[in-house]
Amino acid sequence: MESSFIIPCLLLLLLQFLCLAAGQVNYFPIFRCRDDGNFTRNSTYETNLKTAFASLSATAATGYGFYNTSAGVSPNAVTAIALCRGDVGSETCRDCIRNSIVLLRQNCANQLEALIWSSNCSVRYSNRTYTSVVDVRPNARVSSSINASDIDVFDKALRNLEGRLRVEAAGGNSLRKFATGDVGFGPDSSKIYALMQCSPDLSSFDCNSCLSVVYRESQGCCDGEIDVGVFYPSCSVRYSNASFYNDPPAIKLPSPPPSSPESPAIPGGTGNSRKSIYVIVPVACVLGGILVIIGLCLFIKRRRKNNIKDAAKKESGTAFSSLVMNENQNNSANLAQAGSAEMEMGAVGSLQFDLFTIEAATNSFFDGNKIGQGGFGPVYKGVLANGMEVAVKRLSKSSGQGSQEFINEVILMAKLQHRNLVRLLGFCLDADEKLLIYEYVSNKSLDYFLFNPNRHGQLDWPKRYKIIGGITRGMLYLHEDSRLRIIHRDLKVSNILLDFDMNPKISDFGLARIVGVDQIEVNTNRIVGTYGYMSPEYAMHGHFSVKSDVFAFGIVVLEIITGKKCSRFYNEDDHQDLSHFAWKSWIEGRAMELVDPTIVETCSEDEVMRCINIALLCVQEDVDARPSMAYVLNILNNYSIDLPTPTRTPHYLPKRHDSYSSNSKSVSKSTDESLITNVYAR
Ligand SMILES: *[C@@H]1O[C@H](CO)[C@@H](O)[C@H](O)[C@H]1NC(C)=O
Ligand SMILES: *[C@@H]1O[C@H](CO)[C@@H](O)[C@H](O)[C@H]1NC(C)=O
Ligand SMILES: *[C@@H]1O[C@H](CO)[C@@H](O)[C@H](O)[C@H]1NC(C)=O
Ligand SMILES: *[C@@H]1O[C@H](CO)[C@@H](O)[C@H](O)[C@H]1NC(C)=O
Ligand SMILES: *[C@@H]1O[C@H](CO)[C@@H](O)[C@H](O)[C@H]1NC(C)=O
Ligand SMILES: *[C@@H]1O[C@H](CO)[C@@H](O)[C@H](O)[C@H]1NC(C)=O
Ligand SMILES: *[C@@H]1O[C@H](CO)[C@@H](O)[C@H](O)[C@H]1NC(C)=O
Repeated sequence: MESSFIIPCLLLLLLQFLCLAAGQVNYFPIFRCRDDGNFTRNSTYETNLKTAFASLSATAATGYGFYNTSAGVSPNAVTAIALCRGDVGSETCRDCIRNSIVLLRQNCANQLEALIWSSNCSVRYSNRTYTSVVDVRPNARVSSSINASDIDVFDKALRNLEGRLRVEAAGGNSLRKFATGDVGFGPDSSKIYALMQCSPDLSSFDCNSCLSVVYRESQGCCDGEIDVGVFYPSCSVRYSNASFYNDPPAIKLPSPPPSSPESPAIPGGTGNSRKSIYVIVPVACVLGGILVIIGLCLFIKRRRKNNIKDAAKKESGTAFSSLVMNENQNNSANLAQAGSAEMEMGAVGSLQFDLFTIEAATNSFFDGNKIGQGGFGPVYKGVLANGMEVAVKRLSKSSGQGSQEFINEVILMAKLQHRNLVRLLGFCLDADEKLLIYEYVSNKSLDYFLFNPNRHGQLDWPKRYKIIGGITRGMLYLHEDSRLRIIHRDLKVSNILLDFDMNPKISDFGLARIVGVDQIEVNTNRIVGTYGYMSPEYAMHGHFSVKSDVFAFGIVVLEIITGKKCSRFYNEDDHQDLSHFAWKSWIEGRAMELVDPTIVETCSEDEVMRCINIALLCVQEDVDARPSMAYVLNILNNYSIDLPTPTRTPHYLPKRHDSYSSNSKSVSKSTDESLITNVYAR
């Protein structure tokens, strides 16, 4: 009986091998099925979906590879879009679309919304209407995990190629936005081949920004790897050291490009007997793959019979992936508010990770995975079993919080969701481990760019201005818009992370509550904060309020504008710290001298002066005179409002070294940049 299984299994293995050997690395097909909304069998929605698909299959033989169709009326309307790779011929395109539709129906059987990337095309459908704006979710990325031998040379060549292709692709017309090209690198005349494509309905501007985001993401995930693909619904980037596209494209565009996009697909089907052949091969591959995996799983399972915990672990992984998917699908920043008691009970389950999962994700807290050291413990990068990247904060064992309070606070913080806040995904509580799991933000923190002479050029003024706006909105959300009123208490440039698009995300908010410092503080007057960012009333008397955050915000803005670290800034001549120096320059009409020389060229004097003015208002000594974050946002957005003149900034921290230790009985400080916990006695 066993042998009757083995022979087909071996055959399938062989087939699988052949399937893989036929192309290069075969990443396709890739599916994204939205699993929080299903339609029922034989429903109107299904009928409409079939109609839409039939219309895609039928018309894909004409045109230039982009097809947009819809069927039915709301609430059962279905929109389906197919986009073929710009270099393939119409036969290949049509076959790819037909196969993809079959695969999509098999893999995402009754999902309301789904997407497939095949090697020659992508197909997606949804109950919402797709519009011609950059759509970034769901997305996928694939890579070979093989590094180029000389990463620097490779990267440099790739960057040049990327710039050229992006411009070319974005410059395409409404029929096709596509570019391919290659470039040699290294001594042995190896080549990089790259392909960039946008959905042709995007504007050139949107195409350009989509491609730069996607390219940057490919660098973020797979720096130096020789075979990488990043796929968004609206655009994609792929490069490899092996040639993988047709040059020139199989279909030429008409020479005078028509100004209007082609008309939507017309329904009406034709039979096709070739279809079955094209379906059988990939299906056999997929089946073969599944069988191999099942075989492996059985084998492994036998070996680890005793480990029942595994199942539970896998489960929590899945629950989590669907949680993230839901959130990803919903682009609105703020799902957070509607929390009922039942949701909170349910929330614990979906927020809880077990230690095994996290250890597997971080290589058991391997040192090489460490990406930072915060005030309350080290931070590790991890990759969950489903491929998702996370940042894991391992709280130091001394944190005083009991388990229940810890969980309660995590649930509250996980509800705070905003574009400009790093998302808290969950926690892990196991014996003496307390871990916080955050979304991973690809581009490190603001100080990594701002204070490094080789990198600060990457932050021109428009980017810095955008970052200031983002921080403002994030802080406003913490202070006023969320249901909780969160005082950050440790806002600083190293707590501002940047995503691949250089959008700021504030991290470590609510941490004082999670580790229970807020409670402890009442009893022992411990002060949490960082030198240079602490408002005088907080540093001297332990009084904290939203206005102490506003103070820290002002310092951050000054650092962004001047490119100078507040903790390092110390003017020996007249014993001034950064904020005081800025204030004096302002009063004396020399404020433009503050501006980081690398951005002087790109900056708008109006914007810079306004930001300096705002920063100085925020760091005023008088607590009540400092603006609220809401007011800051208002004056950032509205240039017709006249700004008050800032009054004197505090002068309480003349030097780092003597700081305010005369006021404290014991000061336990680590480095000047890291968060300090200070026992202060009045
Ligand atoms: C939708 O169906 C998929 C499987 O077909 C299932 O995994 C998922 O839980 C379903 N979702 C809902 C909300 O019913
Ligand atoms: C859907 O309809 C077909 C025929 O119209 C029928 O054979 C099938 O059983 C139906 N399925 C369900 C789930 O109702
Ligand atoms: C994709 O198109 C190329 C021709 O451009 C073809 O050789 C290849 O087989 C196609 N891939 C699949 C999976 O059909
Ligand atoms: C699509 O379906 C989801 C899930 O049922 C629903 O929440 C959403 O409102 C629908 N969208 C449209 C545009 O009908
Ligand atoms: C698809 O076509 C419809 C109707 O012509 C249009 O409103 C919609 O914007 C189109 N969507 C895309 C992504 O082109
Ligand atoms: C590839 O290079 C990265 C650093 O850029 C390194 O972390 C990774 O381990 C390398 N991978 C392999 C397979 O050598
Ligand atoms: C691509 O690079 C890998 C690793 O450097 C090498 O093994 C492979 O032969 C290269 N492929 C081509 C087509 O150059």
